[in-house]
Amino acid sequence: MFKSVVTLALSAMLLICTPVSAAEPIVIKFSHVVAEDTPKGRGALLFKQLVEQRLGDKVKVEVYPNSTLFGDADELQALRDGKVQMLAPSLSKFDAYTKQLQVFDLPFLFDDLEAVKRFQKREKSRELLRSMAGYDIYGLAYWNNGMKQLSATRALKAPADAKGLNFRIQPSPVLEAQFAELGATTSKMAFSETLAALQKGTVQGAENPWSNLASQKLDSVQPFITETNHGSLNYMLISNSKFWISIPYQVRTQLEAIIEEVSFKVNQDAEELNRKSREQLVAAGRAQIITLTHEQREAWREAMRPVWQRFETEIGADVLRAAQTVNR
Ligand code: LMR
Repeated sequence: MFKSVVTLALSAMLLICTPVSAAEPIVIKFSHVVAEDTPKGRGALLFKQLVEQRLGDKVKVEVYPNSTLFGDADELQALRDGKVQMLAPSLSKFDAYTKQLQVFDLPFLFDDLEAVKRFQKREKSRELLRSMAGYDIYGLAYWNNGMKQLSATRALKAPADAKGLNFRIQPSPVLEAQFAELGATTSKMAFSETLAALQKGTVQGAENPWSNLASQKLDSVQPFITETNHGSLNYMLISNSKFWISIPYQVRTQLEAIIEEVSFKVNQDAEELNRKSREQLVAAGRAQIITLTHEQREAWREAMRPVWQRFETEIGADVLRAAQTVNR
């Protein structure tokens, strides 16, 4: 009895003496699947740094790179379940939620990354940021990586060279169709499994921007890389709609301003980073880099182009038309 009175008195004293703690910061877990020295990896770290500087007492950002928290297979569900608050999946990974974003996968649609950026500023692209609202997926910004190159265990100079090879692809029907046009087969696979699958030989080819090729050391298993620039790898920075709207207005506005700044920087630096990664691969000398003449590249374009028509209805003729007007 005496003991419990003392315990009660002590607890009461403790309660009185403990200073009222400030509200707990909002925690944003930002999970992604690539290395830190890539456009997305750097973007995530810059976001964390700026939030720390400007909103350090109110928001805490934790970055989990290289599929260490969630990978391709489960990250979108984890975001919808509130287990993670920010992601930047490639636009090829949203097929289950919207068909419209497949426009970004169409081969040879955009001449270069500048054209992609111009499209992302158009009204149609801005609308696509809201295309998954029904699934609680809230698009915040577009981040870009770079133009994709083909790699394989044999030299790919003409489209017919790809025939019979099995390519690792992201889960996009457009990418599946693109390789089918070449007489190649595909395996949809998480990014984190790609290197092992190429090592084992279950797939013999892939498509990646220079930064992912170099940071994953894919040249250790892909002796030939063809500089096709046939498509682009772009991301959507997303959050969970309910979570995002629940952030107090003032803090949310500041976060959105930081996102705008970071997105500008990511998209400004992406090309340079990919150029450096290309140089790194050339210097390593493990893979032969095949450059195409204008005529050779035109042959790839002709081979892959029938895919556009097949997906026009799903994507929407208006979206496709808007995308077609951005090349110069
Ligand atoms: C891929 O799966 O190839 C890419 O989406 C990986 C990434 O996020 O850059």
